[in-house]
Amino acid sequence: MIRIKRPDLKVGEKTKINQDNLEILLIYLGADRFLAFDNRCPHLGCDLSKYGVLIRDELVCQCHFSHFSIFSGKPIKGAAKKPIKIYNVKIDGDYLIIGQ
Ligand code: FES
Repeated sequence: MIRIKRPDLKVGEKTKINQDNLEILLIYLGADRFLAFDNRCPHLGCDLSKYGVLIRDELVCQCHFSHFSIFSGKPIKGAAKKPIKIYNVKIDGDYLIIGQ
């Protein structure tokens, strides 16, 4: 679990968090809702802060167009066979707590 200062993101913006040997992709959905994933695609490790896009309820890695469910992390289509790790995000004042 990590605790970070809440980044100043616009709706739909994403950022990469590096802390405690974790590399996390954080996406702001608006209305105090965030999504967090491992920042490395489970297919061949592309940097999702650069190549990841959110399309409705799927995270898509544009390196080889793998689609992952934002709810389960499971691969839906494309090259990836392994799921992507999803983290819970809780808001604690000006901070975010990102955990398993
Ligand atoms: S590295 Fe993401 S789909 Fe291949």
